[in-house]
Amino acid sequence: MDYQTAFAEYETAAIQAINDSQNPEAIEAVRIEFLGKKKGRLKDLQSVLGKVKPEERPIVGKQFNEIKNKVSAALDARVKELKKPQKALSQIDVTLPGTTVEVGKVHPLIQTIDEFKDIMGRFGFSVVDGPEIEDEHHNFKALNIPEAHPARDPLDNFYLAAAETASGGPVLLRSQTSTVQIRVMEKTKPPIRIVSIGRVYRPDTIDATHSCMFHQMEGLMIGDDVTMAQLKTVLSMFAKTYLGDDVQVRFRPSFFPFTEPSVEVDMLWGDDWLEIGGAGMVDPNVLRTVGYDPEEVSGFAFGLGIERFCMKRHEITDIRRFYENDIRFLKQF
Ligand code: DAH
Repeated sequence: MDYQTAFAEYETAAIQAINDSQNPEAIEAVRIEFLGKKKGRLKDLQSVLGKVKPEERPIVGKQFNEIKNKVSAALDARVKELKKPQKALSQIDVTLPGTTVEVGKVHPLIQTIDEFKDIMGRFGFSVVDGPEIEDEHHNFKALNIPEAHPARDPLDNFYLAAAETASGGPVLLRSQTSTVQIRVMEKTKPPIRIVSIGRVYRPDTIDATHSCMFHQMEGLMIGDDVTMAQLKTVLSMFAKTYLGDDVQVRFRPSFFPFTEPSVEVDMLWGDDWLEIGGAGMVDPNVLRTVGYDPEEVSGFAFGLGIERFCMKRHEITDIRRFYENDIRFLKQF
């Protein structure tokens, strides 16, 4: 083989092998094969060089060196290349979404409300809404709360100055969701099974456990023969579904104008009895006011505080955190 052909073959094979190398081990093997000093393709080439005529030797020698340098440079470049892009690739997770925009979260109270609606829905209770601005009829009178009752005290309610209903008379921000019981019964014939969840307003002094606005879940079940035992069953099942099977519910005798008998509802959760709301059998006066016959139908009602449940579940110790809109607090849930 003449030296020209040998040089050309060597160069082509070397460049091909360099380009084909995909990792440091492969490129090192190529270096040994094509540029190794003791044996390999470069040594073979040198022996070809030994056979050329003495007068040609300077030119052929120069060519030999040029080819050797060219291959050596190509190899160095490939070594560098193999180091760089591999690192860059491993730093990019191509399965991640393209942007890192922070997505918002559902507020912990709304999470609780959604869960309550879901649980009560499974018990056959549908969800209804009522207005937050109410008249005295729905907030008090129809609920059997007489004119002189302390619950009507303007200092304990947010009456809206100069605002009057179509029927005349003052309006206020509702102080309880029991208003929705009346609105539903006025429009619907029994049987009824509803819950209504929303905001209520009271001018309480704000502290770790009180707020001038908070949320309640009102429940109402009316039928031919609704009993207090069913009330307790529904509340126990509700508490167990939300918090776990070991939760117990207890009733304590109490008084509400719109129920007879009336109870306070407590829940044993861990080691603590927690007061969660009020309940009772719908008072015959209330049934009569909405046009029902108390001899024909009976029912139970309950009102639970939403914040209580949410605070207990997440070990939140200050109710004000819910309303401050501090992202650092809210994004924990
Ligand atoms: N409305 C009462 C309150 O805000 C709670 C309540 C008690 C609701 C007894 C009821 C009930 O439906 O039967 O304190």
